[in-house]
Amino acid sequence: MTLLTDTFTLNNGIKIPQVGFGTWEIPDGEEAYNSTKWALEAGYRHIDTALVYENEKSVGKAIKDSGIPRSEVFITTKQPAENKSYDQALKDFDQSLKNLGIDYVDLYLIHAPWPWDLAGKRYNQENLDVWKAFTEIYQSGRAKAVGVSNFDVIDLQNILDNSKLKPAVNQIQYYIGFTEPKISKFCKDNDILVEAYSPLATGKMLNNPQVKEIAAKYGVTTAQLALRFVLENGVLPLPRSTKKDHIVDNTNLNFQIDAEDLSTLNSLKDTASNMYHNETQG
Ligand SMILES: NC(=O)c1ccc[n+]([C@@H]2O[C@H](COP(=O)([O-])OP(=O)(O)OC[C@H]3O[C@@H](n4cnc5c(N)ncnc54)[C@H](OP(=O)(O)O)[C@@H]3O)[C@@H](O)[C@H]2O)c1
Repeated sequence: MTLLTDTFTLNNGIKIPQVGFGTWEIPDGEEAYNSTKWALEAGYRHIDTALVYENEKSVGKAIKDSGIPRSEVFITTKQPAENKSYDQALKDFDQSLKNLGIDYVDLYLIHAPWPWDLAGKRYNQENLDVWKAFTEIYQSGRAKAVGVSNFDVIDLQNILDNSKLKPAVNQIQYYIGFTEPKISKFCKDNDILVEAYSPLATGKMLNNPQVKEIAAKYGVTTAQLALRFVLENGVLPLPRSTKKDHIVDNTNLNFQIDAEDLSTLNSLKDTASNMYHNETQG
């Protein structure tokens, strides 16, 4: 048994490896290729990318070159937040498949409910238009599951009220001290899996003294404790690293946080200083 390939089951029955490898800000070319290659060598079987990360080509090539059968790697990509139309969503999807060099994705996400520079503004009808394209892609079998990212309760309710297809996942910012409780609870109540992006707060929580102290007690690194914390809460972490030793370090999560420490960690205030939160996060 490897902890990385243990799975959560999505609301449509698809199994998803419970830890994914994040690739945001890893430049296309050697860095994205090597990081993805090292992640696969370390045992990850779930890779998270996005069209706007502009690294899908290298990520896809590393997966192909690994020789691991396509069916054994879970690939997620995302549709750009700026493109809020049915036609453009279909085009974006085709572009991602082409970049990745594959004929289906395992999970396709709307990257955000609003263009990034208009975070918080409502795009209810536009999100339904994009979701219509997602529904067709899903029905065609070219995405095994579809979901959303950065959606708050109102954005999720809009989809639930107006579509027969429920999002399988909501990928949100989630780390010790910043677990977006309202959105997380709504997702749990509606059988939508929460994926934790920035589970290490983009590195900004790694020196938090309270977290360091608890990590020391378990003889693990702060990163390991932070990732295990996410799993203990029933949420799927997506750590990112470009360093081989960190990539391996982040796979060693086979320990348990006791109930008291988990409760302490769940009661901490934001453990990262200067972390960016968009308008709807909290
Ligand atoms: N949907 C969205 O809108 C959204 C937004 C943000 C992120 N995401 C997804 O979530 C993934 C993760 O979030 P993130 O990119 O913000 O990063 P993160 O995983 O929270 O943190 C990454 C940072 O932590 C460092 N790090 C990783 N492992 C470490 C270790 N064991 N020891 C010390 N330092 C370590 C990395 O540096 P080194 O490279 O030096 O190891 C990097 O600076 C993204 O890559 C992306 O796939 C999605």
